[in-house]
Amino acid sequence: MGNRSLRSMLGASAILAVLTFVLQGSPLAAAGEGEALFKTKCAACHGPDGAGQTPVGKNMKIRDLRSDEVQKQSDTELSELIAKGKNKMPPFEKSLKPDQIKDLVAHIRDLGKKK
Ligand code: HEC
Repeated sequence: MGNRSLRSMLGASAILAVLTFVLQGSPLAAAGEGEALFKTKCAACHGPDGAGQTPVGKNMKIRDLRSDEVQKQSDTELSELIAKGKNKMPPFEKSLKPDQIKDLVAHIRDLGKKK
């Protein structure tokens, strides 16, 4: 097999990969929305990395979202908490759609993995 056919094969598989990605409804894009939402709606208190090392976060003694105590809760528990709020944590059920809350929970899981 010559160099050229190898390159065209790589090209074809790249196109295929992009197509599959788009057709699958792009899970990465969803996680991307979670990240963007987190930065605009949550980072002021929780910090961009979820550690809660912001002036507000320290003042409210927010737990690190990456910690085991937070990560051991189920997706349902975390979604409920985000929707309904808790003590000083504001409720988001009026300003976010259930899908967006789901993306946020996915993003919190990602943060947990990056610890
Ligand atoms: C005004 C500051 C503030 C904002 C904005 C905020 N939070 Fe919180 N959050 C808190 C506080 C305070 C707590 C701790 C509540 C408690 O346990 O008393 C908390 C707790 C949490 C917890 C549970 C952590 C634990 O200890 O189990 C999650 C998950 C969470 N927030 C997610 C989010 C998400 C997602 C957003 C954005 C949509 C967000 N928060 C926006 C203040 C905030």
